Amino acid sequence: MLTNEQINNIKNSINIVDIVSNYIPLTKKGKNYFGVCPFHPDSDPSFCVSEQKQIYTCFSCKATGNVIHFVMNYENISFKEALKILADKANINIDIGDTKRIISDKNSKLYDIYDTALKFYQNNINTASGKTAKEYLYSRGFNDEIIKEFMIGLSLTNHDLLTKILVNKKNSYEDMLKSGLVVKNNYGYSDIYSNRIMFPIWDVTGKVVGFSGRIFNGEDTKQFAKYINTKETPIFKKGELLYNYHRAKNSCRQKNCVIIVEGQLDLIRVYSIGVENVIATMGTAFTKEHTLLVKRLASNVIICFDGDSAGAKATIACGNELTSIGITPKIIRLENNMDPDEYIKSNGKEKFIEKVDNPINFIDFKLSFYKNDKDFNNNNDIAKYVNTIIDELSKIDDEILKELTLKKLSIESNLDIDFLRDSLNKKKVNVKKEIKNIKSTVKEDKYEMASKHLIYYMLRDKKVIKMYNNSKVFIPDEKYRLLAKEISGFYINNGFIDVSALMNSFTNNEDMIKLIGEIEFLNLNNEYDILQINDYINVLKQYSINSEINRLEQQMHTINNRDDKLVLAQKLLELKKEQSKIVEEKLYERD
Ligand code: UTP
Ligand code: MN
Repeated sequence: MLTNEQINNIKNSINIVDIVSNYIPLTKKGKNYFGVCPFHPDSDPSFCVSEQKQIYTCFSCKATGNVIHFVMNYENISFKEALKILADKANINIDIGDTKRIISDKNSKLYDIYDTALKFYQNNINTASGKTAKEYLYSRGFNDEIIKEFMIGLSLTNHDLLTKILVNKKNSYEDMLKSGLVVKNNYGYSDIYSNRIMFPIWDVTGKVVGFSGRIFNGEDTKQFAKYINTKETPIFKKGELLYNYHRAKNSCRQKNCVIIVEGQLDLIRVYSIGVENVIATMGTAFTKEHTLLVKRLASNVIICFDGDSAGAKATIACGNELTSIGITPKIIRLENNMDPDEYIKSNGKEKFIEKVDNPINFIDFKLSFYKNDKDFNNNNDIAKYVNTIIDELSKIDDEILKELTLKKLSIESNLDIDFLRDSLNKKKVNVKKEIKNIKSTVKEDKYEMASKHLIYYMLRDKKVIKMYNNSKVFIPDEKYRLLAKEISGFYINNGFIDVSALMNSFTNNEDMIKLIGEIEFLNLNNEYDILQINDYINVLKQYSINSEINRLEQQMHTINNRDDKLVLAQKLLELKKEQSKIVEEKLYERD
């Protein structure tokens, strides 16, 4: 167990600006540093790092935290693991123990099951029964080294071997069914996979969270699914993971470039020819979550999907998702409908690497994609094409690329370039208008404002913490009340107040950290006077009194006993007196 002192010692030995700069480019503006937020899809610099406070916040998605939270969230690792990375950077020796045990209990059974299955499948492929499977893999250009590195295995023709092993290991049938490796039928329980080559699927941190099994024995792919994936579970969501992410991470960051392919087979083939900065989608559309993961690897992205028309459509969709977060991808197209694996097989690895070194611009790919089904003798088709491309151009920022494309478009369509430029400029105005209309302001009530402002100054001055404690005021909203209590507790324990350290106590409560960030970055004056703080406290006091008065007045209607009524009336009178006193106090002090 690490003590708070050790944790703060590590935190204080590093500067959040240095650490964050290792991951995303930051620009100094005033006291703070700004960059594009890695935690939500965006291209605006709404991510703010405060060197003085040693915390970060995103003004758009509200992601907030201190340096430990940043590394946790960026690398998708636990608090302890993040601390270890930071301790290493600060040259401080710590022992965080076995990180495997950090896995949350809720899913640990699933991880155990996949671990058992992985060893079983890997063992099978190395026995006599694995001979044909291995031969198949060799025929596809994989050697033993790759088979081992990608932990490729084999499920056997017997239908219940894995099930038996899992039962012997005291797994419950419920967990076994949940894993997607075991199925229940009329005869009992049996394995889902039989005689398939098994590819383990890792999550972004490198833990096995499922499998994809491919048929290989010359079975008919029309009759049987070519690949069967384990079903989606809380830890296996195809829309949220990218195959080979954990292995490619370092290579992508070194080269500042990531290549995306479709499917594990293509991936392994590309990886095996020495192109290691490659990740793959797994037969699903490219999602917002995927874009965020990609953005954390590199700022240059190359899409290299299958060469057929489905692959071309998927390229457009994936490229648009990336563009929406400010990444303009480059594209590789493979001739004759080939996928990367087929391309490398028939043209050799050098030709493929040549393609990787010379990808085409996304907009150029779009020109050829949208031109594909158009008849340039037909004016309707030309108009449609020109409109589509103008629309696409309105989404990109690169002025030179825009001008070059307009020139091309002008030649293709026989329309004057000035006319095309005008159309483009008109379109941009419309887009801007739309954005303006979406933004609306949320009005917050005076109690919420008083709570936030009070806390803002509590975070700045212990005098305000004392005033809050002495006032015994009850903050109506639970989250602000809890936060005020924690601040005051932190101060009592430490004798000072430090937002960044305070955030450590809320590591498992993201909402609370966001709230601290929101308040900390309020645009308020750092100077304050006592009257102002009194005002906040009085506003909050008023709230408690008003709601108590309301409650008692309601009660008054429901009771009949005269004595009880009298007692209530007395209470009400006192409360009302207190209420007017607060108002008077305010008037008096203002004079
Ligand atoms: P492909 O059909 O392009 O397969 O599916 P592939 O990668 O070229 O594989 P080989 O060369 O035929 O062996 C691409 C991805 O789509 C998913 C898998 O993740 C696969 O890697 N897929 C495909 C399935 O989930 N189920 C299927 O039946 C087929
Ligand atoms: Mn293929």
